[in-house]
Formats: sequence, structure tokens, C-alpha cells
Amino acid sequence: MKHVFMQGSHAAAPVLLLLHGTGGSERDLIGLAQLVSPGSSILGVRGNVLENGMPRFFRRLAEGVFDLEDLKLRTAELNDFLDTAAEQYGFDRGRVVAIGYSNGANIAASLLFHYEASLIGAILHHPMVPIRDLQLPAMTNLPIFIGAGDNDPICSPQETSELEQLLGGAGAAVTVHWEQRGHQLTQSEAMAAKAWFELNFAD
Ligand code: MLT
Repeated sequence: MKHVFMQGSHAAAPVLLLLHGTGGSERDLIGLAQLVSPGSSILGVRGNVLENGMPRFFRRLAEGVFDLEDLKLRTAELNDFLDTAAEQYGFDRGRVVAIGYSNGANIAASLLFHYEASLIGAILHHPMVPIRDLQLPAMTNLPIFIGAGDNDPICSPQETSELEQLLGGAGAAVTVHWEQRGHQLTQSEAMAAKAWFELNFAD
């Protein structure tokens, strides 16, 4: 997968996996990652699917209607890519925290839904429920931050609560941060993600 890797200054800090929104690139969330954990190594990845020229991490049939076969295939592809990248760049595959926005948050949630211990934590900005009626792997005490907008037309508050319950039901320790905004990722949401990261991962 097309990607960028930046070696961090703090070897013990988790590696941050960056997953952009529709139409984004592997570099979109670098500034956010450097705010959240300045010492971490960064792996920014570009989605392999194109929708009218816009990169995405999996196909959709319509706004909010996912192609579930493609979602499964692309989730496996990303999980395999993480194994390969860990070998190539010499980072600990067991120390990856995802930061995803929108479509990127959805594939991060799909990683958690499909592969046990694929991540040791996740910051999901404006995620949806990626897939339903799946037996989720154990996520005992796995820290997850969800950033949501109470006026988000793409990820409704009901869907945010549904995702919180699904992840919590699998044992994850979910923190939901609400903004009185829509789908955009605001500075105050980024600062809340940073505070959450420091609480959970600072050594
Ligand atoms: C998706 O397709 O993953 C969601 O609708 C979010 C987005 O617009 O990318």
C-alpha cells in the first residue's frame, strides 16, 4: 500500500497508524499525530480504492452503505500490510495505535472488529459501525477514543452510541468525546484525543 513512514524519537511510544478520510492521502493526519504523540513513529497509509479519483479504504455502494465483501478484503489487506511494514521498518507490530478520520476511522474500527490484538488502541474521529452481526474478538480493556459531532449528518449520534456499545460489549474501554458540531475534525476534538492518549499511553 502507498504509505509514508517517519521514525519517531521515542522508541517505547506506540507507533501511530494514520488512516485518512475519503479523498485524503497518507500525509493528511501527520500534523495531528505529531500533536497527539510527538515522539511516536508514524505510519501513514493511503487507501487502495478510488471513488471518482478519491482514495478510500474500501468501496461503498452509496453514502453510508458499505460494500461489505470489499470491506472484509480491504481490512485483511491492511492487517497484512501492518505485518509487512513492521518487518520492513523494524517497529513492534504489537504496539500500534490507529488514528482514523471518517472513512479511515471506519477501516480502523473494522480492523478491531475482525482481528484480535491488531491494535493496542484507537482514536476514531467520526466513525460509523463498519459491519453488523459479527462476533467481535475480545477487546478486554482496549482503550478507544471516539470523537463525534452531535450534529454530524454522516455519523448520527445513534450510530455513535451503537458503536460505543458494540466495542464496550467486547470489553473495550471506550471514551466518547462530543462536539457540538458536524462531521469536521475540530481543534478541540484533536486536543481531547491528545489528552486521552496521554492518559492511556504516556510512560
Ligand atoms: C464512509 O464511506 O466510510 C463514510 O461514509 C465516511 C466517508 O464519507 O468517508
